[in-house]
Amino acid sequence: MAISIKTPEEIEKMRVAGRLAAEVLEMIAPHVVPGVTTGELDRLCHEHITQKQQAISACLGYHGFPKSVCISVNEVVCHGIPSDDRVLKDGDVVNVDVTVIKDEYHGDTSKMFIVGKATIQGERLCRVTQESLYIALRLVKPGIRLRELGRAIQQYVEAQDFSVVREYCGHGIGKGFHEEPQVLHYDADDSGVVLQAGMTFTIEPMVNAGDYRIRTMKDGWTVKTKDRSLSAQYEHTIVVTENGCEILTLREDDTLPAVLENVA
Ligand code: CO
Repeated sequence: MAISIKTPEEIEKMRVAGRLAAEVLEMIAPHVVPGVTTGELDRLCHEHITQKQQAISACLGYHGFPKSVCISVNEVVCHGIPSDDRVLKDGDVVNVDVTVIKDEYHGDTSKMFIVGKATIQGERLCRVTQESLYIALRLVKPGIRLRELGRAIQQYVEAQDFSVVREYCGHGIGKGFHEEPQVLHYDADDSGVVLQAGMTFTIEPMVNAGDYRIRTMKDGWTVKTKDRSLSAQYEHTIVVTENGCEILTLREDDTLPAVLENVA
């Protein structure tokens, strides 16, 4: 397995791409309100990426995906297709997943929005999912095994009586949208991968309120929880540094600093 180590010049380009991806989520936040359609949110993201940022959506046309961002509502786990027929309402939990390409490099990030008045379960699921990502981010440093991240995420999530989706994982990222390694969010074989400074990858746990099993819909994209329970996801693109990691897709609403010093 060849995991690329990025040069400082490449990391600088990924910082730019990551900032742009994060900025799309900051831009869209005030628009995620009751009554808006996911199709309208997609159009706003598309215009922002192509016109304001002069960047490219990596999702549009990716294996035929028809829209610029993925928007996954409630029991949709991931890869929801934005639609003018999907009207958001109070209490919906909504993931917007953005991947931009700028100067050949990718930035990939997603977060949850709660529409209008939150439900207790929706709020708790989103909070636990973000915390599971943060727990993994606080562990990243050279020398640790990749599988320690998934183990920590799974332990935390299951202690909250939620479950971790198995079929989708984080991934190496750079000039490629999906590079080596696969970053599993549960404790599983990592082929012996040990983290090294200069590796760039995403961590993006998908957490279900009920059972971890999922089902793909007939459109070939939309993935739902098998038991129709709520699902949430948060994602950051990071680079491993000499003593921790740097979050390349940090937003103003994140409660972690961009640079994490995780070496004790
Ligand atoms: Co990703």
